[in-house]
Amino acid sequence: MPSLTFIQPNGERVHVEAPQGQSVMEAAVKNGVTGIVAECGGACSCATCHGYIDPSWLQEVGAPSEDELDMLEFANEAKENSRLCCQVVMTEALDGMVIQIPSSQG
Ligand code: FES
Repeated sequence: MPSLTFIQPNGERVHVEAPQGQSVMEAAVKNGVTGIVAECGGACSCATCHGYIDPSWLQEVGAPSEDELDMLEFANEAKENSRLCCQVVMTEALDGMVIQIPSSQG
C-alpha cells in the first residue's frame, strides 16, 4: 500500500499508509496526524489542510485546480509548493511522498 511521510513543524516525521483513491488529508486525519485540521471535511472550502509538498514530488502531484488556488490564498504562509491535502488523491505514483505541515493552519 502507498505510504506518506508528514513532517511536523518540530521536525518529527510521521509515517502513514495511504490507500489509492484516498486523499492525503484523509490519510492524515484517519491516522491522527496533528496539524491537518480539515475543518470542511475535504470540500476545498477551509484551507486548514494546507501542507507543503516536498519539491521533489511536485511534478508527480501535478498542478492545483483554480478552486484550490483560490482557497490557498487563505492559507497561512502559502508557498509555491503549497497544496490543500484534501485535493491530492493518492496513487501508487505518490508512494513515499513527503509533506511538511505548516506551523499553523489558516
Ligand atoms: Fe477544507 Fe481541505 S479540508 S480545504
